[in-house]
Amino acid sequence: MFFLQNGMRLLRYVRASYKCRCKSNAPLSTLKNKLKQGPGLKEFIVNSSEVPEVITHPPHIPYLPDNIQNTSKRRVYFDVYGCQMNLNDTEIVWSILKNEGFEKTEVEEEADIFLVMTCAIREGAENKIWHRLDHLRGFKNRRALSKNRNNPVKIGILGCMAERLKEKLIEKEKAVDVVAGPDSYRDLPRLLALTESGQTAVNVLLSLDETYADVVPVRLNQNNISAFISIMRGCDNMCTYCIVPFTRGRERSRPVSSIVDEVRHLSESGVKEVTLLGQNVNSYRDVTQPTEKFDTHLAEGFKTVYKNKKGGLRFADLLDKVSSVDPEMRIRFTAAHPKDFPDEVLRLVRERANVCKSVHLPAQAGSSAVLARMRRGYGRAAYLRLVQRVRAAVPGVGLSTDMICGFCGETDEEFEETLSLMDIVEYNVAFLFPYSMREKTTAYRRYKDDVPESVKKERHSRMIELYRRKCQKLNDAEIGNVHLVLVEGVVPKTGQIMGRNEFYIKVVFDQTEIPSEEGMRRAQPGDYVGVRIVSARCSVLTGVPLYHTTIREFYKEYSWGERAALRI
Ligand code: 5AD
Ligand code: SF4
Repeated sequence: MFFLQNGMRLLRYVRASYKCRCKSNAPLSTLKNKLKQGPGLKEFIVNSSEVPEVITHPPHIPYLPDNIQNTSKRRVYFDVYGCQMNLNDTEIVWSILKNEGFEKTEVEEEADIFLVMTCAIREGAENKIWHRLDHLRGFKNRRALSKNRNNPVKIGILGCMAERLKEKLIEKEKAVDVVAGPDSYRDLPRLLALTESGQTAVNVLLSLDETYADVVPVRLNQNNISAFISIMRGCDNMCTYCIVPFTRGRERSRPVSSIVDEVRHLSESGVKEVTLLGQNVNSYRDVTQPTEKFDTHLAEGFKTVYKNKKGGLRFADLLDKVSSVDPEMRIRFTAAHPKDFPDEVLRLVRERANVCKSVHLPAQAGSSAVLARMRRGYGRAAYLRLVQRVRAAVPGVGLSTDMICGFCGETDEEFEETLSLMDIVEYNVAFLFPYSMREKTTAYRRYKDDVPESVKKERHSRMIELYRRKCQKLNDAEIGNVHLVLVEGVVPKTGQIMGRNEFYIKVVFDQTEIPSEEGMRRAQPGDYVGVRIVSARCSVLTGVPLYHTTIREFYKEYSWGERAALRI
């Protein structure tokens, strides 16, 4: 049965590759090459039934045949749901469409095409999108009856929910015209062109190597002083609760050179902060670069389900290069899976003034038994040891986490261990979720979603309450200290200036003229300001602006560690 299942998967792969060949009219030999580059039988066996259903390798699809209608000048309205990666993916999509002559609008009435970038991580995330689709269906129907009916509205669903539901999305919501998964955005101009003749178009092929490395994302909001950069796509971790490996496919890294070029380009266009994104940035490997074969070194108490990577440039190499582009550009990264956190990365976080002293270390749970069911690759003790190691390497570092309550079989005692972990670690930022069972995941096949909704809700409230209490305590301790704040803009309601400190916590202050090298002036987006904290709530600090500064100036007198020790 086992071999039959995996054999079927291999067959499906062959079939999908063969489809690509037909499309591209490529010679038969390329089919062999594709198969060579694709996963071998071994990989199907190693990961048994856990690989995404369709694994293909479609790098050379001729995306835009000559005979398609020209959809140029059609105006696109983007809706973005889900994580920061989705924001970056939307910017990739916009870059691709802009190149093909499409325009963008922020006004619904002006739009001809609605593209909804979706998330599938929890049922709640999908419910929000179904509501949005109700609205868009109404809009589409109204347009069809209006005097503007010659300009029919098209609706495209992109991203993780598109990948999860595939053709079923169109069956369920007839108003949808295009379904495109995370690896098929290059195909969007063709898919949209197909809809011109009333067809629906679907491309949900997952790729082993698509990183959009050559696509320079066009930012949706050019005024933002911060940007997100995906350094890798997909995920091989296979946590039992998570849909991501099935919606975003296998893990692959974007070459260092293309990331550094993008950072340089962003720096030149005035961006002051970039966040490097990946499901697990520490498993980043640029294998296009021949290097000595670094072995992934897992600390005691950590293990991984996939083969350790050998060779290629590592995340520490990337962080080194990215943080050297512009010493006045803040660098953040997320997420770092606790299972492999190398000393080299911690050293860069400590030593580079522009690398933010905050680390997102998603724990997910505090009980070793729950962590084992989640297949996280570590237990409570190993996680706590890692926290100590990070704190020792970067004194005063801010920690953030993701936590899930109510996972399959979670007992009251196990949940108490999550609370106690939060109590011990004292996170500056936490994202807290009630468990939501997702089809296809290992948990769906292996466990029972047996914690009642009411219990999940109650546990969720308790986590939030504890987190708020802890944050309040941490933030109160900052009163009197001076923080380096990167100004983002104005709070619409109060007119106050809003920026963020090293830990990504909001800091607000009244607008007033403060000293700078060029004399007294007000704070503007993109400025670094030294702000003395005068009051604190659990998620916002209020301060008094003291002076304009730069990262180098602010840390000139004292290093980060000294500032943290002296509580400056
Ligand atoms: N239910 C609830 N939360 C989940 N997450 C991932 N999958 C699920 C799920 N099925 C959370 C994890 C992850 C974050 C992005 O979302 O905490 O780190
Ligand atoms: Fe992002 Fe995960 Fe949601 Fe996909 S499912 S959009 S990867 S959070």
